[in-house]
Formats: sequence, structure tokens, C-alpha cells
Amino acid sequence: MARDELLTPAADPVEAAEETTLRPRRLAEFVGQPTLVEHLEIMIEAATKRAQAVDHILLAGPPGLGKTSLAGIIAAEMGARLQPTSGPALERAGDLAAILSNLDDGDVLFIDEVHRLPRPVEEVLYPAMEDFQLDIVIGKGPAARSIRLDLPRFTLVGATTRTGLITGPLRDRFGFVARLDYYDHHDLASIVRRAATILGVELADDGAAAIAGRSRGTPRIANRLLKRVRDYAEVRGDGTIDAETAMRALALFEVDELGLDKVDRSILAALCKTFAGQPVGLSTLAIAVGEQPETVEDVYEPFLLQNGLLLRTPRGRVASAAAYEHLGLPAAVRSTETLALFASDDGDADVARKDSP
Ligand SMILES: Nc1ncnc2c1ncn2[C@@H]1O[C@H](COP(=O)(O)OP(=O)(O)O)[C@@H](O)[C@H]1O
Ligand SMILES: [Mg+2]
Repeated sequence: MARDELLTPAADPVEAAEETTLRPRRLAEFVGQPTLVEHLEIMIEAATKRAQAVDHILLAGPPGLGKTSLAGIIAAEMGARLQPTSGPALERAGDLAAILSNLDDGDVLFIDEVHRLPRPVEEVLYPAMEDFQLDIVIGKGPAARSIRLDLPRFTLVGATTRTGLITGPLRDRFGFVARLDYYDHHDLASIVRRAATILGVELADDGAAAIAGRSRGTPRIANRLLKRVRDYAEVRGDGTIDAETAMRALALFEVDELGLDKVDRSILAALCKTFAGQPVGLSTLAIAVGEQPETVEDVYEPFLLQNGLLLRTPRGRVASAAAYEHLGLPAAVRSTETLALFASDDGDADVARKDSP
């Protein structure tokens, strides 16, 4: 199974419906991220006491960690209406103006992939976020004039996989930037147990642990793997998921003991073998594994970086010693030049990106 299949919102209607039922609806159901949850609790309670809308919130983190779920939770906890849209869906300033002028007091406007808002649309958002005002231009040419409309007090919740791509003026207008981290095995095990209960799947504790350990720290992947393992258990076993069934199913789906899939492994193999340990630019690497550069950067790299399997150096990407070991390759393949780079690695993403051909 490719990571994309595991990470993109389900296309199949039955799967999509299941995913909706698995979404936590209230803060109390949201597993893990304790610091973030506490911050949100405080913000929401304080706003409720003052009978005001919560400050604008930016949710940042890799796909599948719970950003969309949290947007819904914030609205639910505020007893507010959720108005979802996304950066790419808002093509013109007028698209956003129409949505803004239809908001009610207290509404939560959720803009997914907020880093992909076109600039003219983003500019409409500034006065709306800051002063709850909307500037509209009426007419064209010399006769054009601009009028200001008052907007209701709404809360903007933005989600992004790429904080680095959010412009300064936009980021500054959020009262709170919440970063979601990868989940530990313990939290992931709770998440799959919760999902198993909702789906009516018989899941032993060691089965939950086996799935949690291979979910790359990502709840969406944990839930998807649970469903694939459930299919396997129903067809090849008695429907119950224990560690052994889970391991056999995951081996069949080519998810390895670190939770890496085929694409993860081919990224590491390209770095270790094809490019023989030389630093590689993002686009070259993407071509080598047949993926889009953005997919490699947003979907695959964060987990490999976090686990110390891949390093970003000023000259490009390199695999770490742990990656060679994981692939069962002799560390000797590494060039001396790369070894020198390990020492000077400052992990600077922007420098590494500029290095891409
Ligand atoms: N903290 C959590 N607790 C329980 N389930 C979660 C949590 N975070 C995410 N999930 C599960 O993962 C799925 C994907 O989460 P989602 O909010 O869509 O992530 P994102 O918007 O960051 O890509 C949800 O449908 C939900 O089942
Ligand atoms: Mg989402």
C-alpha cells in the first residue's frame, strides 16, 4: 500500500463514511497531544465565559494527525456552526467575500490548506481577521469605489501541512499557532482500540500494539491499517486481531517493522544505492522514486526525518547510518564526502530546497 492511499481522504464512499464515524467529535475523545489539548481547553473556556468567539487558530502538522478533526471539535465545543472550505477552492477574492458575508456571529470558518490561498484572496482575509471588516470594490475603472462591510465575530481555523509556506502577515493574524506532533505508540494503540470499538472489530491488546508500532505516528494510517488487518483477519482467520494476525497482514501489505512502506524504502534505497550516498536535491530524488516533489516533502520526508533515517544537509538529502542498517546495506557504501556532511548537517530545509535542481 502506498502512503498516498493511506493518507489521502478515502475516495470509496463506504470507507469515507467509516472515516467520518471514526473522527473524534469532542475534545475529550481526542487522544494524545496533551499540551495542545490543554491550550485549546483554556482558550475555549475563557472565550465561553466572556461570551466571545475564540481567537483565530492555525493548526500545523503533517497529514493525518487530526487537524480537520480539531477544527470540528473547536466548533462543537463552542456550540458553533462549522463552515468548511479550503485554500485551493477559493480561487477569487469574491469567493471568500461571499463566504465571509454569509457568516453568523460565533461561526467557525475552517480553511484547510490555508497555505494554498491565492494572494488576492489572502489579502481579503487580513482586515476580516483583524477588524472583522470586508472591503468590497464596486464597479470598474475610474468609477470603482471601495466600501467596507462589518462582519460578524467569527473564528478562523486554518490548517496547513507547511507552516514555512504561510506568509508572515497571515501567520501574525492568528492568535494561536498549534503544532501537531507525531503520536507515540501508546496513543496510537488507544486510537486503534477506540476505532475497533466503533467498527465492532475484535482487537486484542497485542494486536493494537502491533498496528500502533507500524503506523508512522499517524492516526489516519493507524485506522487505515486496522481496516486492512480486519479484512485479512476475516478472510484468513476467525476475525479476531491479535499480534500474529496483525504482523502477517502487515507483511502482506509490505509495511515493515518501522512502519515504512514501499515508497519510503525506495526513497532510502535511492539515496543509499542509486546516488551512492551523495547528497541529492528534492526534485532529483522525487523523479528517482516516481513521486511529485511536494508529495516527497510533505508526506514521506517528515517521518523519515523525525526517525533519523533521512537527513537534510545544505547540499541535499542523504540517508543516515540507521537507514543503511534498516535496508541491510553495509555502511561502507557511504562516501567520505557524505560522512563529512553528517557532521555539518544543520537540517535547514530552505537551504536544502534551494539546492534542488
Ligand atoms: N487525536 C486523535 N484521536 C483519535 N483519532 C484521531 C486523532 N487524530 C486523528 N484521528 C483519526 O485520524 C483521522 C484523520 O484525521 P484528520 O483530522 O482528518 O487529520 P488531518 O486533517 O490532520 O489530515 C480521523 O478520521 C480520525 O479517525
Ligand atoms: Mg484534513
